[in-house]
Amino acid sequence: NTASLKGAATTFSVGTITRSPYVTAGGTHIEILKNEFNNLTSEYEMKMNIMYPSEGNYDFSAGDAIVGFAQANDMNVHGHALIWHNATPSWVENFSGTDAEFEAMVEDYITTTLNHYKGKVRSWDVVNEAFEDGTGHPLRNSVFRQKMGDDYIKKCFQFARNADPDVILFYNDYNMASSPTKRQAMFNLVDELGDLIDGVGAQMHISYNGPSAANIQAVADGTVSRNLKLHFAELDIRANPEEDTSLTSLSSDRANAQKDKFKEVVQIYNAIPLDNKFALTVWGVRDNESWLLDFWGVPEWPLMFDEDYNKKPAYAGFLEGLE
Ligand code: G3I
Repeated sequence: NTASLKGAATTFSVGTITRSPYVTAGGTHIEILKNEFNNLTSEYEMKMNIMYPSEGNYDFSAGDAIVGFAQANDMNVHGHALIWHNATPSWVENFSGTDAEFEAMVEDYITTTLNHYKGKVRSWDVVNEAFEDGTGHPLRNSVFRQKMGDDYIKKCFQFARNADPDVILFYNDYNMASSPTKRQAMFNLVDELGDLIDGVGAQMHISYNGPSAANIQAVADGTVSRNLKLHFAELDIRANPEEDTSLTSLSSDRANAQKDKFKEVVQIYNAIPLDNKFALTVWGVRDNESWLLDFWGVPEWPLMFDEDYNKKPAYAGFLEGLE
């Protein structure tokens, strides 16, 4: 049915994020998930700090609730994220064993997790945000890099590929459009990974006034030229990037500029070849639930629904991007 985002986007999945309390609560939020979206990313409950809270002790319960809801509603699940410096449990940060024991632990964690979700989770962000900000290189000095070496990313992709040859494996990062340097560093990594990687996750945490269409197109072009899947993985579009504390509501000018940016991003995504299409995922349903509120401390009105679950002009912009 075209009266929805997923109904209109016939050549790629339309995703958003969720958490286990939502999928068990029901109500308007769930109705919107079911009607508008067919690809779910766990906002935080399929990260290492939640799934592997202490050594030898896995807890997949929250992720299982999300996967169960998705299976009941014919939706795909994108696993996010196996390895991320910001979601590493403290026992891993303070690992007391040898480097070889650390690497064996990481292989066991990736293997156990992929086996648990085999046939239920279509794709995984194997590594998230490995590059330092600014230069895009060197790699962040995470505990994984310290204990497994600079080629830890390739090792983690190999562990994942060994565990489940059918799951679609992504590298995921932010500022892929706004930072040509970081974008190039990411594509260099992708080239080093060869056939261990299936797709590029560009988070797309952007603003109504940037990055430019040309820079967003460059992310698509670099991915398509490598014949990889592209996932615009965490799209939200700040309407107050100036962090103007005097703004207390979303003006029609900003709402329309945001609509145009949603349309632009969807047009770029919709234009890539079918073989390179995976999903376009927005990082949330309602403006007032966005991570950006906490991060910037000012309203950003970044999503397609307002706090009363009304469709904003941004929703129309998404649909216009598909025409
Ligand atoms: O739900 C619990 C609640 O029960 C508890 O009382 C509260 C206080 O500890 O925590 C709540 O969980 C929070 C969770 O978000 C849900 O709100 C976690 O503390 C908080 O750390 C978690 O933050 C998430 C963050 O990643 C870290 O995992 C954000 O929701 C999520 O939007 C953010 O997403 C990241 C992507 O994974 C990677 N790209 C950047 C993006 C934004 O930072």
